[in-house]
This record gives sequence, structure tokens and C-alpha cells, in this order.
Amino acid sequence: MMHRLFKTCHVGTKCCLLTLIWSFATWIVIFQVYHVLFPSKSEIPELRKSQLMDSVNVSPDISAFQSALKHVSIRGEPLMKESSSVQIRENSSLKNNTRNRAVEEAKLLRLKKLAGLLFPSKALSMDASKANHSEVGIYYPGREWRDIAGHPIQAHGGGIIYVPKSETFFWYGENKGGRTYHLSKRGTARVDVLGVNCYSSKDLWSWKFEGRALKGEYRNKKSDLYVKNVVERPKVIYNDRSKLYVMWMHIDNGTYSKAAIGVAVSTHPVGPFEYLGSKRPHGCDSRDMTVFKDDNGDAYIVYSSQINNELHVGKLTEDYLDVMERGMEKIFIKQRREAPAVFKHKSIYYMLTSGCTSWNPNGALIHASTSMLGPWVTIGDPCVGGDEELRTLTFFSQGSFVLPLPGLQDTFIFMGDRWLPSDLRDSRYVWLPLTMNGPLYQGVSTDIHFPQLQRVSIRWADEWKLPQGWNNSQNL
Ligand code: DGJ
Repeated sequence: MMHRLFKTCHVGTKCCLLTLIWSFATWIVIFQVYHVLFPSKSEIPELRKSQLMDSVNVSPDISAFQSALKHVSIRGEPLMKESSSVQIRENSSLKNNTRNRAVEEAKLLRLKKLAGLLFPSKALSMDASKANHSEVGIYYPGREWRDIAGHPIQAHGGGIIYVPKSETFFWYGENKGGRTYHLSKRGTARVDVLGVNCYSSKDLWSWKFEGRALKGEYRNKKSDLYVKNVVERPKVIYNDRSKLYVMWMHIDNGTYSKAAIGVAVSTHPVGPFEYLGSKRPHGCDSRDMTVFKDDNGDAYIVYSSQINNELHVGKLTEDYLDVMERGMEKIFIKQRREAPAVFKHKSIYYMLTSGCTSWNPNGALIHASTSMLGPWVTIGDPCVGGDEELRTLTFFSQGSFVLPLPGLQDTFIFMGDRWLPSDLRDSRYVWLPLTMNGPLYQGVSTDIHFPQLQRVSIRWADEWKLPQGWNNSQNL
């Protein structure tokens, strides 16, 4: 074809065509070089994604980090602006382009560091199946935590009871060991109801999986425990009269509109728990909840209500299997608090709460009262130390329980969840010492007289250990 073309053309036309071809080829080369040097907007995020994943080795879906980190800022500069911090805007001028790239590179570097910091590589797990003597008992908040069989612990949103007879702790929590998905486009990230797990330990560090204390229900769609529903924040208390272990939990449907509490019982701490049913306490919607057993055996339920606008506190019946319909108190009205956790110190009740931002972290608050039914006074954010930005986000976690330690009067363990909404099963635990250290907070004035009100501190530590002898029975 080409040959025929040349044959029929004049010499001048041939030259002209050659020049045209050459200049066309040159333009292609220039275009390619430019493209390599300054890739287009749509290509850069892909490149960044793979770089980021290699370096942090945490999750197959970096968009989760982007959404999880969107509230985090470093040195006053929001890390996640608009839809993505790693997205580079195209600029008309080369100079701007280069400067933007440098800024984005710096941001990316911080994001990488932060992601590695918040969800450290699994190679760094706290692994009770492999730990040598010197490693046992060292807590690294945010690292993956493995039980004595080497499996990641699945006990999220949970709580712990201590059984003095066997000197054993039992940790109950949500088994989130399934695939994360959304029921609808705007629905929250979730996993199927896979039951409530139970782990046992003598030292609070090496945990043995005791099985599913409460199982999910795969067939019966009418069951509260049906896989497509929601079972969250299970807490267990022991009834000294009935000698039964009673588990209370948040029961919901996939859209969180059922808003109820459920109860189950067992004769043994490890279960199996028999599910008794659910209800709306005091006729009110209830979502995040906890139960608290007082020294005199009275037990209370605390739950977020009125679409999380307030908390309600009410007494449980003597057998702990129901809620007393009378005597409920509304607290923190219009303050939108959830994830309540209650503990008692020197006759004063303390409650830790979070704000309401789904799986994203926010600031914690401590409240105090001389009676479970209030009035309650808000004292302030108990978090101290560590990175300032993370501190204001409860160290990138949400509280689930405050554990008293046998033998240590003024020290508790703060138990929090560092949720990973793209892959909830890889959510981490943030356990930190919670100490009652010293008299009243400065600048806190309350109308209520609290003779023994203490400063509550949840102090950040990259790694920490319980003091020796804390569980020595002589201290009890
Ligand atoms: C925040 C609650 O504290 C969690 O238990 C869970 O219900 C999430 N919201 C769901 O978005």
C-alpha cells in the first residue's frame, strides 16, 4: 500500500509526508516522556495505594484507612482532606505540579507512618503461643493480639469478669472474624453475627479460647441472633443468689432500628449461654449499653437512648434477668454519648463514655456520681500523654470496659477497641492503665460534694506491664 503511494506521488510530496511522519513520531515520544514524568490524576492514587500497602502491610483496602483517618490531623493539618489525602490535583503549571507533589509526598509519608503506628504489622503481634518469658505480660496497644493457640483474639466491644474461686478472668466479646460488608450503600460496615466469644486467663495477657459462649443463628431469620442482625457490646455479671452468669448485650437489626437489649444465662462462665430474649428497656430505644454490679449485689443497666441523644440508667431485677421498669434516670441529655463503661472507686461511681461517630474514634469523657442513678457530673477527658492529636481521639480507640484489678486498689485497665471499618475482624485492642491518681481535677467545680473524687488518668504507653504482684492473692 505504502509502496503504491510513493509510486504515484511527486518527490516533493514524498518529503513532505516523511517530515509529517517524523514530526508525528517525535510528538508521541515527547508525550510519553511527559506522561512518565507527570502522570495523570487518575493514575497516581493507584501507585500510591500499592506503595502504601507494601510499607504498612496492614489491610488490603487502603480506603478504610482513608476513611478511618479522616478525623486525624498531624500538627494542625488535617491528614484526610476531602475524599482522599493521597489524591493529587492536576495543575496547569509545572511549578505548581512539582510543589504539590512534594507536599503530597510528605503527607503520604506521614500517613504511612501513622497507619503503621495505628495498625502495626502482624509480624509484631502479641502472640501468647510464641512469647518467651520476658515477652509475656508486655502490652503493646494497637498490635494484633493472639491467644495461646496463635489465633487472633476475637472479643470486640467486650468486657471481663473475674471468678475468685478459680482465680481466672473471662473475657467476652464480639466475634468479628468474618467478612466485612455493607447491607446497603449508606449502611454501616458490619460482619455477620458470629456469636460472642469467651477467653480465659490467669494473667490477663495469655488468653485461652473457650469457645463461642453464645452462638449466632444461621437458619432462623426470626431469631435476634440471626446472622444478618446485630449483637454488640456483650457484658457478663454473676448473680450470687441464682449462681448464674448473666450476659446482657445490644440487640439490633441490620439497620439499627430495633434498638433493644438482649439477655442470656449460663451456669458456667464459659457457657453455653442460653438466650432468653430481648426488649426495649423502659419502653425506650437502646443501643450501646453496659451493665454494672455494685458491691451490695445491686446491678444496673446503662444504655444510649433517644437516638443516642441521652443515656439512661436503671436497676436490674434481683435475678438480673430483667430491667426494673420504675426508677429509670435520664442523664447527659442532648450530649450524644455512647459506649458507657462503669467502675467504682472509694464509694464513687465513674462512667467513661465516647461520642457518637460510628466506627471512627472521638474524645472520651469521664463522669462521676455518688449514686448510680445520679446526678452525674462530667469531669473531663481522662486521656493523658502520647501524641496530642491521638490523645483527643482516645488514642484512636473507643472504650468498651474498665477492669478493676484484684490486689491493686487505685489501678484499673482501660479496654478500648481500635475499629478498622474496612476489615472489622482486624480491629485492634487498646488496653492502657487507668489510674486514680490524686485529688480533684483542677478547675472542676461541681454542686455535688465529692469527698473522695479522684483524678482519673488513662495514660498512653507504647508498651507497658502490670506491676509485679498485682494478682498476688495476699494483696486481695
Ligand atoms: C458505635 C458503637 O459504639 C459500636 O458498638 C457500633 O455500634 C458502631 N457504632 C456501629 O457503627
